[in-house]
Amino acid sequence: MKRPYIFCHMLVSMDGKIMGNYMDTPQGIKAQEVFYDIAFGKKPYYHHQGWLSGRVTTDDNFTFYKKPRIDENAEKVAEGDYIANAQAGMYYVSIDPNGRLGWEKDTLVYEDTRAHVIEILTAKAGNAYKALLRKLHISYLIVGEDQIDFEVMLEKLKESFHIETLMLGGGGVLNWSLIQQGLCDEVSLVIASAADGSNQTPTLFEMRENFSNDRPIEFALQEATIMDEAALWLRYKVKEVKRHE
Ligand SMILES: NC(=O)c1ccc[n+]([C@@H]2O[C@H](COP(=O)([O-])OP(=O)(O)OC[C@H]3O[C@@H](n4cnc5c(N)ncnc54)[C@H](OP(=O)(O)O)[C@@H]3O)[C@@H](O)[C@H]2O)c1
Repeated sequence: MKRPYIFCHMLVSMDGKIMGNYMDTPQGIKAQEVFYDIAFGKKPYYHHQGWLSGRVTTDDNFTFYKKPRIDENAEKVAEGDYIANAQAGMYYVSIDPNGRLGWEKDTLVYEDTRAHVIEILTAKAGNAYKALLRKLHISYLIVGEDQIDFEVMLEKLKESFHIETLMLGGGGVLNWSLIQQGLCDEVSLVIASAADGSNQTPTLFEMRENFSNDRPIEFALQEATIMDEAALWLRYKVKEVKRHE
């Protein structure tokens, strides 16, 4: 399969949570800086060309649960994918099977990183939503009828957008889907020296019916680095991975 190299890069608390009050503590804030610098800082470790996020993660961080401003009377759009920008260099790949996200422009800024948005849709996304994306010059790929076909998605990201290395950036539901399908090569964990004990917040990996199950996966620890008293960085290879070129 021709797909990018994929590393899952996540910040977690000592009790494995990917969000929550621990993030607002001084140790949590410092660990978030360490997390950003490893992937996006001045001397990044991975040199990726894009990162992939689940629909809830995008709504929490970039689209804020706004309703998309669709025009139900929009003209019928051409069949197939829409590539608005294949030269951006950095891409935000947004998993949105039904076409729900309320995007308002084609570029986002995360700290000091700019990225062109690529929406990943299934055939369930309607004409009006695709017309809105075209109007905003947001690229989209249609991969699958009901369910996202991640293998097809990854091949298209490599071929059409030249993404050689892709960060799998959460949340827990998306992470576990890709890892269980053998489509993640490496896990990079920044563990903040903080916890909040909440049982209301998602963990690093979350099983979701129709997407994944609780079949276990093994990892091989490659490296452990104390970055600061606030952050430990662990790198693991995933033991069960589909080959890529
Ligand atoms: N600490 C960190 O490093 C970090 C990083 C990223 C995110 N986060 C946090 O994680 C939280 C969200 O995590 P989450 O696990 O609840 O949600 P998530 O993985 O961000 O999003 C889940 C949604 O994405 C879509 N999706 C995921 N897997 C899919 C699959 N296999 N096939 C089709 N669609 C799929 C579905 O969208 P539909 O519902 O539209 O069908 C699903 O409901 C947020 O609060 C975010 O801030 C933390």
